[in-house]
Amino acid sequence: MIRDNHFKTLIEPFKIKSVEPIRFTTREERARILAEAGYNTFMIRADDVIIDLLTDSGTGAMSARQWAGILDGDEAYAGSRSYFKLEKTIRSITGMEHVIPTHQGRAAEKILFTIVGGPGKVIPNNTHFDTTRANVEFSGACAVDCPTDEGMQTDSIGDFKGNMDLVKLEETIRTYGPERIPLVMITVTNNSGGGQPVSMANIRATRDVCRKYNLPLFLDACRFAENAYFIKLREEGYADKSPLEIAREMFSYADGCTMSAKKDGLVNIGGFLAMNDGELAQKCRNLLIITEGFPTYGGLAGRDLEAVAELEIIPAPRSAT
Ligand SMILES: Cc1ncc(COP(=O)(O)O)c(C=O)c1O
Repeated sequence: MIRDNHFKTLIEPFKIKSVEPIRFTTREERARILAEAGYNTFMIRADDVIIDLLTDSGTGAMSARQWAGILDGDEAYAGSRSYFKLEKTIRSITGMEHVIPTHQGRAAEKILFTIVGGPGKVIPNNTHFDTTRANVEFSGACAVDCPTDEGMQTDSIGDFKGNMDLVKLEETIRTYGPERIPLVMITVTNNSGGGQPVSMANIRATRDVCRKYNLPLFLDACRFAENAYFIKLREEGYADKSPLEIAREMFSYADGCTMSAKKDGLVNIGGFLAMNDGELAQKCRNLLIITEGFPTYGGLAGRDLEAVAELEIIPAPRSAT
């Protein structure tokens, strides 16, 4: 017999009120579509896909307030109201002074590594995401992954298999020399390492290694909210903290971040670079102007800035009276 307490019902704290039809295909059609695409899922038309698991990128449904923000977006070329709203939201989560919008995450990486990368430079990361590695290498620098041995075991279960291996990180710094390392990066969650989370203790300890060698620490923050939630669920001392408080602590150990807002920004398009170093930020803005656009829109329409800026804080349930 199944007892009641064997069930744990999770009720999502939102309502879905928009429906988009999908076209159904037959098994034979799917076999033909796959063959015609050369069995490369990137070559299939989206209309031919019933359940699209190609990527997590840009797949989140936007909230009613985000859609309202789309109409309210300020399309001014310079000094857009939507930019200042975006800056306020990002500062309130990351605590970082300089906020530079980009059209997506890889554009933030391209700008950052064009400036800090280049031949002879080395960038350590728990695991570089493919666009991050490509941008580091395209600049002429060398991308070094420092995943833990546990993280490389695909059949083991662990709480924080996305962690940076601190011994490998220090070995990398000593082997190449800190003068060749413009920054250290941690990807949260560790997407190319299986989407595994990184613990707060590991982010803090990585920051300590960086401080020892006077190196800045940047987060590839695409899944910062998900990582914060894993910390809440799995790391001692965080169960009673909100994901937002945990995210703020994660960012407090970093000097900067790159972000694809198509992930935990829950928008269709967008990204940003944020940092505390004003001199570096100025160099990034100068490059942004000749690649993405003016620093207050960075390759995005005002409505896109508005959608990223719309931070949805779901109120805690009212207590029964
Ligand atoms: C960890 C990580 N970094 C960077 C990126 C690149 O972001 P974008 O696709 O917005 O360029 C992605 C995208 O999947 C990612 O998952």
